[in-house]
Amino acid sequence: MEKQGKMALEHWVNQVTDKFIRNTIINDEFMEFMKENTLPYQSLMAYYRCAIMEIETKFKVLNEQFSLQYDRNPIETIKTRLKSQEGIMKKLKKKNLPLTVESIEENIRDVAGVRVVCSFPEDIYLLADCLLEQDDILLIQKKDYIQNPKESGYRSLHLIVEVPIFLQNEKRPMKVEIQLRTIAMDFWASLEHKLRYKKNIKPEEAVRLAEELEKCARISAQLDYKMQEIRNRIQKEEQDS
Ligand code: GTP
Ligand code: MG
Repeated sequence: MEKQGKMALEHWVNQVTDKFIRNTIINDEFMEFMKENTLPYQSLMAYYRCAIMEIETKFKVLNEQFSLQYDRNPIETIKTRLKSQEGIMKKLKKKNLPLTVESIEENIRDVAGVRVVCSFPEDIYLLADCLLEQDDILLIQKKDYIQNPKESGYRSLHLIVEVPIFLQNEKRPMKVEIQLRTIAMDFWASLEHKLRYKKNIKPEEAVRLAEELEKCARISAQLDYKMQEIRNRIQKEEQDS
């Protein structure tokens, strides 16, 4: 019951805080910041777009290689995104950090985001290991929410890496957040995300839905491993015959 109360309160606080930030702080302060920093901000965003391209290409190359070597594609889809101005602003405010171009680069690790969706959990670790072995990739942080799911039920493997981009006269390391998930994990996360950011759900109902979703996360994890086991048995049969 205590956990439910805490979740309901968090849901309500998030709604109110979001509204406050959107309506007040973002407009004035951000307009002021953009007036003075348009060019450096746009350049930084261009660098992040380049870093996204580098990482996306690395995964596409790995996918090609696996499809040649093992006759299967470990990657189902790759989605990329650049964090919005509003998203960057909100995060700086939430963490009480200064609004400067340097502060964005130093403190926000998920301006550049790459999401790799695989069919099977094993492929997630295979791809992550292959990427991290590359000599131009520096691992900054790894969070394994597959081994240790979040309280919400959320599962994915998160990597923050640094990848160099090569400019005219400069090699520049850029941070990228990589989320690796199965199709089932991605399906779950997109539905749970809708609940998290829906504004007009009553707090008690939000808590009930969150509990249902947590159960769904466990069921989908079972499905992931069952499907993987079947895949492996099929592969074994193929190899033996
Ligand atoms: P953020 O400040 O939100 O970026 O979180 P963090 O720095 O603590 O990083 P974390 O690795 O926990 O989560 C980063 C991202 O993972 C989020 O922006 C979401 O895309 C995703 N994520 C994490 N937890 C959840 C969750 O419970 N549900 C869903 N749907 N997505 C989640
Ligand atoms: Mg984030």
